[in-house]
Amino acid sequence: MDKKEWQILIIDLGSQYTEIIRRSLRYLGVHSVVISAENTLEYINDFKPKGIILSGGSASVYEPEAPQIPSEILNSGIPILGICFGMQWIAYMSDKDSVHRVQSGKSYGPVEINFSNKITSPLINELENTIKAWASHGDSVKKAPNDFEVFATSENGQVIEGMQNLDKNIFGVQFHPEVEQTEDNNKILANFIFNVCEVVKDYSKKEIVDEIRTKTLKELGDGVAIIGVSGGVDSTTLAAILAPTLGDRIKAFMIDTGGMREGEIQKVQNMCQKAGIDILIIDKYVDKFINEVGQTIDAEEKRAKFRKVYGEVFKEVAKEYNATHMIQGTLATDLIESGSKGNSAMIKTHHNVNLDLGLKEIMPLEDFFKFEVRDLAFEFGLEELVVKRQPFPGPGLFLRIVGVPVNKELLEIVREADVEVSKILEKYSVYEKISQVVVALLGVKTVGVKGDGRVYEYSIVVRPVETTDFMTVKGFYLREEICQEIIAVLTRHPKIARVFFDFTPKPPATTEFE
Ligand code: XMP
Repeated sequence: MDKKEWQILIIDLGSQYTEIIRRSLRYLGVHSVVISAENTLEYINDFKPKGIILSGGSASVYEPEAPQIPSEILNSGIPILGICFGMQWIAYMSDKDSVHRVQSGKSYGPVEINFSNKITSPLINELENTIKAWASHGDSVKKAPNDFEVFATSENGQVIEGMQNLDKNIFGVQFHPEVEQTEDNNKILANFIFNVCEVVKDYSKKEIVDEIRTKTLKELGDGVAIIGVSGGVDSTTLAAILAPTLGDRIKAFMIDTGGMREGEIQKVQNMCQKAGIDILIIDKYVDKFINEVGQTIDAEEKRAKFRKVYGEVFKEVAKEYNATHMIQGTLATDLIESGSKGNSAMIKTHHNVNLDLGLKEIMPLEDFFKFEVRDLAFEFGLEELVVKRQPFPGPGLFLRIVGVPVNKELLEIVREADVEVSKILEKYSVYEKISQVVVALLGVKTVGVKGDGRVYEYSIVVRPVETTDFMTVKGFYLREEICQEIIAVLTRHPKIARVFFDFTPKPPATTEFE
């Protein structure tokens, strides 16, 4: 695009969330550019931006090696929003005694932000008086400079979370409005760019879709691609985006692993039909999956086995289609969680990341975040079936049988339990409020009494969670009557003696048991 259209400069001060700021602005329909601090004045001269966002960063304003932002920007008349380190820098530049230096330890995690009812701010238009937000900082602003007023605090007014100088249109927030854990629905960034900076929308969904198609076509060349569609939001939306452009050169298929939920295959078929995707269901490998994956009870070994079998089956399918490429719906978050991107630790092997199948991989969504893909799903009429669908792991019910080898009988039990739990949650209208409900079978047997007789059988764990991005989750506490009904229905099964409920957050637990 013509660089002259850049309306917002994002100055990267070393935050792991800088890219999310740019993505959030794009989601709001605005182009922006991420630059380093030393290029700031050059960019201001060349592009006359309508606003500047200073990202967070891990440095302290007291460190000589901290990013050097030209102080001229504070008097440039251009509205500025400083996030985290950005806010500390703004405060420090006005008052050298305003930033509290932390020697060790960071504040990290959710905070409750209170907006003062005495001091209004254009940034908090249409927001409630309190919101949950994500904090990740060491130093903090201990007092606002004289020409700033505080409009947001946390911890009963003890911690300054937001300050502003309305004459100069300079704002600072200590928390991170760009991440999904901040429950403002992107309103703070939207208020800043639209109400304060007065930018105009210049990015359409069509442009984003075109970019995905162009990137894929460029990488595919004359090749033929296969895409495994799982019925999840990522692969289905991607297949829908690419189907009209690639036509016959994209082959969508779904492998029945034996670990699917009740009615899953039919649902996926219906969804694909609606989105114009021609999908082939491959069901001849079910026994192979159960025999080879089912033997191990170790979580990582099971995932590794699943990945291996999945890879072998994928290879077979590719051969049948003469495919040269495989298209994956992998997102930025998947790559971060499986340790393939950035410096994050590997928590779990995802079955479809870094598969070496001798095919060239295309990952058109590798820079995308879940909220963007959900948004695109709407464009393709997939809102009902995809957007509201709870996620389900690729290795499916294999991960939901814990502590014993997986076999057909146990798969049947957990499949039945899963569908019964969903029905009850739907009946009480809570299914839609839950991000995911994990229903797993615990292989350890316990004693029970049914119909005056002793039983010695399995347990089911029901784990309903709430989250926006699955990087962190919290338990969704079910009401007593719902728990009672779940217990009553599940223990009717002769092989189920007990029901547990698991509301442990992530961290420390993960969403799935394995
Ligand atoms: P965890 O257990 O890591 O799960 O907190 C986070 C989300 O990812 C799903 N999940 C997977 N999805 N392949 C997938 O496609 C996998 O191997 C996989 N493992 C976990 C999980 O269901 C939850 O929604």
